[in-house]
Amino acid sequence: GKIINPEFIAKCPPGCQDVKHRVYGTDIYASFSSVCNAAIHSGIIDNSGGKVLVQKVAGHSGYRGSFSNGVRSLSLPRWRESFLVSGTALGWAFAACKKDSNQKALKILSVFLYLSSDCKVDLSFLMDGSWSIGKRRFQLQKRFLGNVAQALGIGSAGPLMGIVQYGDDPSTEFNLKTYANSKDLRNAIEKIQQKGGLSNVGKALSFVNKNFFLDANGNRGGAPNVVVVMVDGWPTDRVEEASRLARESGINIFFVTVEAAAQSEKQNVVEPNFVDKAVCRTSGFYSINVPSWFSLHKVVQPLVKRVCDTERLACSKTCLNAADIGFVIDGSSSVGTGNFRTVLQFVANISKEFEISDTDTRIGAVQYTYEQRLEFSFDKYSTKQDVLNAIKRISYWSGGTSTGAAISYASEQLFSKSKPNKRKIMILITDGRSYDDVSVPAMAAHQNGVIAYSIGVAWAAPDELEAIASDPAKEHSFFVDDFDNLYRYVNQLIQNICTEFNSQPRN
Ligand SMILES: *[C@@H]1O[C@H](CO)[C@@H](O)[C@H](O)[C@H]1NC(C)=O
Repeated sequence: GKIINPEFIAKCPPGCQDVKHRVYGTDIYASFSSVCNAAIHSGIIDNSGGKVLVQKVAGHSGYRGSFSNGVRSLSLPRWRESFLVSGTALGWAFAACKKDSNQKALKILSVFLYLSSDCKVDLSFLMDGSWSIGKRRFQLQKRFLGNVAQALGIGSAGPLMGIVQYGDDPSTEFNLKTYANSKDLRNAIEKIQQKGGLSNVGKALSFVNKNFFLDANGNRGGAPNVVVVMVDGWPTDRVEEASRLARESGINIFFVTVEAAAQSEKQNVVEPNFVDKAVCRTSGFYSINVPSWFSLHKVVQPLVKRVCDTERLACSKTCLNAADIGFVIDGSSSVGTGNFRTVLQFVANISKEFEISDTDTRIGAVQYTYEQRLEFSFDKYSTKQDVLNAIKRISYWSGGTSTGAAISYASEQLFSKSKPNKRKIMILITDGRSYDDVSVPAMAAHQNGVIAYSIGVAWAAPDELEAIASDPAKEHSFFVDDFDNLYRYVNQLIQNICTEFNSQPRN
């Protein structure tokens, strides 16, 4: 009921809508109202949550209840304190301009600085240029894209936006570095000519995946890649596979569909539920359907808010969610039961740091002595807990040490089944010199795209560790004198994996 800070950001978790928590007022809410329900009521967020800017304002008399966005707010005769809610990006700027227009320009300036730094995304709009859309609606689409460009506030420190027009074939109208401000981009959008043809969205997505987000086209690497697909009706080709590959390259896909197929047209739809098949989460966050081209302007702000919500762009590739990690674990007699448990702890501690699911990072493990054993493959477990349990269950084998054969085995049994666009990372842990040659199998693995890390303990041979490791060896190879010191290298290893990831192109 008492608001301490004049202004703060509240994070509303997914599923925050709850009738137990009441809301009093409309636009201005009595201070003991639920912030998240008030934000849903005012249309800033939906039940999937998000960040909300809360501003304290004076209490007043006559809070008016209303029903809006599925939330019923109540009336209240008077209260001593109130708050306003707005989105953290655009809403903030608009609210600041509208409601505090007599306040100092400094505030507006700080809002825009905040805005441009908050929404650093590399965006590609796929514009529908097919004949079916018609001239008039094509015009409306251009106006929409212009308004989005305006609302985003294009700039080299904030969002950058390019446009690809599709019909039979896609072509790039502008890439990410063609225009560095909203005004120029908007003017250029006005001049785009309709291509005509079919609505080959799948083809367009493949095109964007291969050609759009390249360094040469202004892709910044440090900014999430986002594609917004505009579709009039439905696509004339399939989108599922092309979308999957694009998502696996780290592209977040949004769909804005306008005027869905009527009942009588349903049999013409090539791929039913194409939107759900194309997006990475079917929560509704990644798709917006607009019943008519004439109401498209209403989604400018909701769309901008979503593409700028970088924390929720879950489909972006990061160093923690984009790898297939295969552990190759030395189970030879010299390790001993106690130390073997320590090694498994080490494996678990590393695994814990990653985001694990069948579409994020996957973990596999091989144990070796003279022989090799597949403990579990990449597709065996799809939650972190299952992976950690499986690591715990690995039983110590005991025997000789054929590290070379183990690398070949891991290449065949684990990494040959790695998904395209996943980074193949091998983490090999050994405590002694191998009975066989390691360099030829290691080189073959490197050539097949496996990034190899070697962790040597106690009697491990430095020359072998170096041969196993990817280049540069000193960043891919570690040595510890004792199993009890293994834990010290967990963070270092994660850090090296992430540094290497971030220094390379994303796609
Ligand atoms: C694993 O993590 C636990 C908990 O943080 C820690 O106590 C243990 O020493 C770590 N062991 C290894 C080998 O990393």
